[in-house]
Amino acid sequence: MNPQNGTFKKRGIDYEVPEEMFTLTGDYYHSEEIYQKELEKIFYKRWQLACREEQIVEPGDYLTVPVGEESVIVSRTKSGDIKAHFNVCRHRGTRICVEEKGHFANEIIQCPYHGWQYDLDGNLKGAPFMRDVPGFDKADYGLHPVNVRQWGGFVFINLAENPMPFEDEMGALIGRFEAWNLPELRIAHHIPYRLKCNWKLILQNYQECYHCPGVHPLLADWTPFQNAVHDCMEGAVIGGYMTMTRERGSMTMDGEAAAPPVCDVAGEDLQRVHYYSVYPNLLLSPHPDFVLYHLIRPVGVGEITNDCYFLLHPNVIGDAEKMERFKSAIEFWDMTNLQDWAVCEQMQLGTGSRRFERGRYAPQEDILYALDREVLKALED
Ligand code: FES
Ligand SMILES: [Fe+2]
Repeated sequence: MNPQNGTFKKRGIDYEVPEEMFTLTGDYYHSEEIYQKELEKIFYKRWQLACREEQIVEPGDYLTVPVGEESVIVSRTKSGDIKAHFNVCRHRGTRICVEEKGHFANEIIQCPYHGWQYDLDGNLKGAPFMRDVPGFDKADYGLHPVNVRQWGGFVFINLAENPMPFEDEMGALIGRFEAWNLPELRIAHHIPYRLKCNWKLILQNYQECYHCPGVHPLLADWTPFQNAVHDCMEGAVIGGYMTMTRERGSMTMDGEAAAPPVCDVAGEDLQRVHYYSVYPNLLLSPHPDFVLYHLIRPVGVGEITNDCYFLLHPNVIGDAEKMERFKSAIEFWDMTNLQDWAVCEQMQLGTGSRRFERGRYAPQEDILYALDREVLKALED
């Protein structure tokens, strides 16, 4: 059911929010039918994060990326480009890659079933005993391509045949976070999580700090929840920043910076933690001294994988003493993540109750209402 509309101005900021902000109904977290529609209209249609460029360095390196019930091979080609293809053999449709990651020997992608071979650009190169098959032309049987776009050292993919231009969908990202020089940063740490909740609950949880005083006492000390400013309220990139009370602080166990400021980060950004949902599967949090991001992948209507990564400048990663100090940020975010995941899983259970219909958002949750509308709009398209 669509929440009702109505508008008012808030905190002098020039955007309008609805007067009556109702949450989504419970079926948006539990209905297999709605979930299938979301896969179709969102995950198989929109730009979304696949990986970091650094995860496929050499020609032939690949990752097998799950996208809903699809599977995509993302690989580095001979020329150094990154290409992506459906993980579906053109012979009889077998999934070619089974491992999460690997390296294609001799730059050949070979189906394990009957040995059809493709080059890294997806062209069919070898098909045993097919030469004399009437009307068979190898040129017609390349792997189906998936669109790729790189931004900030991230690799985005889009499974649609005619996707919306990346710039139109993700325009708010372009030119943002230049000071962090994101392409230069490298993964310093990775924590994989698997949760029993709908993918939208994680995005919602990430975008409001109404829950912080109760759920995250330490986080609420470093960034009181009233300090949240939302500067992006529409489209695929939704979010804003929070100001830290402590001078040159960061989100760590003791509130002190975990590393030197990243690249050219200066001025007000030294006091801010940014939180952006890059809809539908990236949560991006540039801190003054590191970048945190979460990669969300639905596994089913009530289950996701949630991979948490920390990015740092390679100079910091190469310094054992600095990395020892950085553990304070990892510990802080692992603790905070687990606090969040627990309430998200409880919300998944509660919204499944026969008594739950829909709830009412607080003013601090206006951004969730915007997020919900983004989902509803996509489902109607
Ligand atoms: S299904 Fe791939 S070679 Fe037969
Ligand atoms: Fe939280």
